[in-house]
Amino acid sequence: MIVGVDYYPEHWPEDRWERDAELMEEAGIGLVRLAEFAWSKMEPEEGSFNFDWLDRAMEVLYSRGIEVVLGTPTAAPPAWIIEEDRSILPVDENGDREGFGARRHYCPNHPRYREHTRRIVKAMGERFGGDPRLVGWQLDNEFSGRCYCDYCKEAFQDWLKEKYGSLEELNEEWGTIFWSQEYGEWEEIPLPTTRARAHNPGLHLDYYRFSSDSWVDYQDLQLEALRPTLGDERVTHNFMFAGFTGIDYSELGEELDFLSWDNYPLISGEPRTERAAAAHDLARGLGGTGFWVMEEQSGPSGWNVVSATPRPGQIKLWSYQALARGADGIVFFRWRTCRVGTEQYWHGVLDHHGEPGRRYDEVKEFAREMEEVGKEITPDRVPVEVALIKDYETGWAFEIQPNSTELDYEEEGLAHYHGFHRLNVPLDVITPGEDFSDYGALIAPNLYLVNEELRKRLERFVRGGGTLILSYRSGVKESRNNKVVNQLLPGELRQLVGAHVEEYTTLGGSPWGEGKAGEGPAIEFLPHPLGSMSGRARVWADRLKLDRARPLALYRSGPWEGEPAASINEYGAGTVIYLGSGLPRNMHRGLAYWLKERMELSGAAETPAGVEAVWRGEGDEAVLYLLNHNAEEVTLSLQEDLKELKSGERREEITLSPYGVALFRR
Ligand code: GLA
Ligand code: ZN
Repeated sequence: MIVGVDYYPEHWPEDRWERDAELMEEAGIGLVRLAEFAWSKMEPEEGSFNFDWLDRAMEVLYSRGIEVVLGTPTAAPPAWIIEEDRSILPVDENGDREGFGARRHYCPNHPRYREHTRRIVKAMGERFGGDPRLVGWQLDNEFSGRCYCDYCKEAFQDWLKEKYGSLEELNEEWGTIFWSQEYGEWEEIPLPTTRARAHNPGLHLDYYRFSSDSWVDYQDLQLEALRPTLGDERVTHNFMFAGFTGIDYSELGEELDFLSWDNYPLISGEPRTERAAAAHDLARGLGGTGFWVMEEQSGPSGWNVVSATPRPGQIKLWSYQALARGADGIVFFRWRTCRVGTEQYWHGVLDHHGEPGRRYDEVKEFAREMEEVGKEITPDRVPVEVALIKDYETGWAFEIQPNSTELDYEEEGLAHYHGFHRLNVPLDVITPGEDFSDYGALIAPNLYLVNEELRKRLERFVRGGGTLILSYRSGVKESRNNKVVNQLLPGELRQLVGAHVEEYTTLGGSPWGEGKAGEGPAIEFLPHPLGSMSGRARVWADRLKLDRARPLALYRSGPWEGEPAASINEYGAGTVIYLGSGLPRNMHRGLAYWLKERMELSGAAETPAGVEAVWRGEGDEAVLYLLNHNAEEVTLSLQEDLKELKSGERREEITLSPYGVALFRR
């Protein structure tokens, strides 16, 4: 178990480093991440490297037993790089070139920038690769963004040549006959900037794919420059889940040795702990257990405006939440709140003044607990029987054409997640390329893009006894080209669903049924098997015609009153549910409950709202985490006799303090 901090020695006078290291050691910090924005200090001018300061900082830390993850600094190219060639600055979708003054101001396809990247990464590797003080590397920082510059345009045209082979094929696949867009030369193909009003959906989606590939390729460039110099260090990149959907993380993660991500549950309002849970489950789904939180919130967040400060206990609680869901490392962002720069108010473990305070004590307490039980409470596997599919490409296709003003693919996934999370049924969040044969059930909301291969894999899954939950706007598009299918919906999935869509309506903004804008018709799950439960449809409504399936829910108002709103079909040894509309939260909980009962899912005990119960590990190793996200004390029954780790006592009931955590074994 790693407990670390993100540290920026370059922000502080060197005579402070010793004190920092001392305080870290006292707090039980065993790792720092360094240097991921320190390019101007490491290479003040081209080819003249200055790593001595970094070496000294590492020495000060290492002499106190603190190991290092080094970041490559490419998220922050210094002014001299930009001044030499301003075309490195990325161009946004309006065609405007970004300026210098923040970070992430570069195009990943720019040849000169790629040279700069190779040079700095190689130099760092040559200086520090294999250094015994190092345990890992982080490449860049939170890759993101889409660039629309001329280099990208050229690279995109090459990418298309590779994909389609000929212009004939491309014209056919994109349907460029529409509005006279047939291309006679590759060079004629534009980028989907806002300079044209509404692009061809095939082109648009391909650009998003290309853009994602560009980041994967740019990361590969760094890996190639770094790998030959490495010893035992493991390489990662810090992913970001909230709102960062532009890169297919399953591809970005492929070449990395381990996954890490940056967790900030409290930005404004209430802490977003259910989302954090889903993000941990995605990190685990992408890379297995053993991922790290490379930046864990340790103070009020904010650049110009400050969020509430984490309440006493919350920093630990969020850290335990990560461990419960498969993390093996927690690195707190950041060690000390900076006196300068954009992030002056993004608080760390220490405040600006640098003296230990309440948050320092909490981190220290966490580190001490990890010293005692860290190993014991982080077994290798998190037992999971259900997977929720998140398809990045489908997300992009909806970004381009949301279908309904109310449709947000991320949010729909989270709505499904909510039902299971609330019942403490563990889920892996996975991408469709992942092998899903070991799961008992798959939830695949809004599976918009489907190809034959995916259809076959889903059919095999269900035929073998799996339960598949699908929803509206599934099978609408051919995935290669973003064309609408030439079939009744849900297209390729119709056989599986055993029903088809007779007609549909958006519920986005238009009155439907009740006459109130944005409000959908009433729907009700039929008494069997879900137990009667009702609510209002959201986002979209399909009018279903059943081929072989039975109705699962009916419309209870509106023009389709009495007709099926959801269906259930037996297929092979398995079952397929199709939801013709977005469901309200209570119905998502009902659906999850039904699946839990039906599959006899082991999951953890049911808990009051705001309390998570999560098992990590199996058999003798299994550890139960109880996490109270409420401001109030909560008493609950464990539903079995368990041994609490802290007291060593066996209990059937426990009282959790506000934001409290308790750990148990059988
Ligand atoms: C991100 C970055 C950090 C820092 C924090 C706080 O997640 O990776 O460098 O900027 O947010 O803003
Ligand atoms: Zn570019």
